[in-house]
Amino acid sequence: MRRVSNGDSDTRRVSNGDVKGAQVTATRDRSSSVERNWQHKVSYGDGDTRRVRQRRRRDEASQQRRHEGISSDGNVRWIVVESAPYSPESIKTILQDVQKYIIPRITHWQSPNYFAYFPSSGSIAGFLGEMLSTGFNVVGFNWMSSPTATELECIVMDWLGEMLKLPKSFLFSGNGGGVLQGTTCEAILSTLTAARDQMLSQVGREKMEKLVVYGSDQTHSAIQKAAKIAGINPMNLRAVKTTKSTSFGLCPKSLHDAVQADVQAGLVPFFLCATVGTTSTNAIDPIGPLCEVAKDYSIWVHVDVAYAGSACICPEFPHFIDGIC
Ligand SMILES: Cc1ncc(COP(=O)(O)O)c(C=O)c1O
Repeated sequence: MRRVSNGDSDTRRVSNGDVKGAQVTATRDRSSSVERNWQHKVSYGDGDTRRVRQRRRRDEASQQRRHEGISSDGNVRWIVVESAPYSPESIKTILQDVQKYIIPRITHWQSPNYFAYFPSSGSIAGFLGEMLSTGFNVVGFNWMSSPTATELECIVMDWLGEMLKLPKSFLFSGNGGGVLQGTTCEAILSTLTAARDQMLSQVGREKMEKLVVYGSDQTHSAIQKAAKIAGINPMNLRAVKTTKSTSFGLCPKSLHDAVQADVQAGLVPFFLCATVGTTSTNAIDPIGPLCEVAKDYSIWVHVDVAYAGSACICPEFPHFIDGIC
């Protein structure tokens, strides 16, 4: 049993399978629900069995960690309340909790002192735009549900396409067009699914098990995830080996050999994920020559530019995506 003080005068007893002889008393005060969770006063009664001593040691260690703001597994679960709060709290208290418990546990990717992984990708324009779109909470699942959302998206996609000097057929104004995705993983999954259905409509749905996806040994794991979700046979994902001699870019001949071997084995090549700026070394796959190979086998080419592709907007870099058509 444990005793829970529910307000100053109301004391309830609840069964929670606590160690025999130990009592937990929670006191309600003006502190936040997070802090209240930390303030459980533990009294162990008279019993001094081995289990009670263990429990006391564990609790003391955990109190100490909480005091220091450290959790053994780096998990915020240690410090937040066990269930959703029953009563409201002021925004001031909530923000104090954010300051005290959340901010020290965030990896601050936007900090000028942060040098791991990628450079800061935030901008004031992006921050303000995010505030507006989150504030409006527009539902934009089709044009009718919020016309301006769709129309603005089309305009911005065309801006992006023009800045990257993509062929006209990629723009809405050229009878093409694109969609903003939340993440690169979603973008790859969307294109892979479209390519899969296009190929199956040509070769027949019974060939599903034969479809083959290509990338290099430098391609982001997003491709594995997408292939798995799209139901591609796990044996049919090719990570073509790269070498230092091509600066770890995917060699068109290696791709050609892999595709040719699969065709001879009765498989159906259908999707290549090429990368401009791989995550670990910023390797650049030669898009034009790879597209030439892909064209011969009607393979859909997706170019993953998640990490470095925005650089192709600069006048000195667009040649890295030459060959897209
Ligand atoms: C080249 C590349 N592709 C794909 C991804 C996955 O991006 P996301 O987390 O937006 O799905 C990353 C992320 O680092 C990346 O660098």
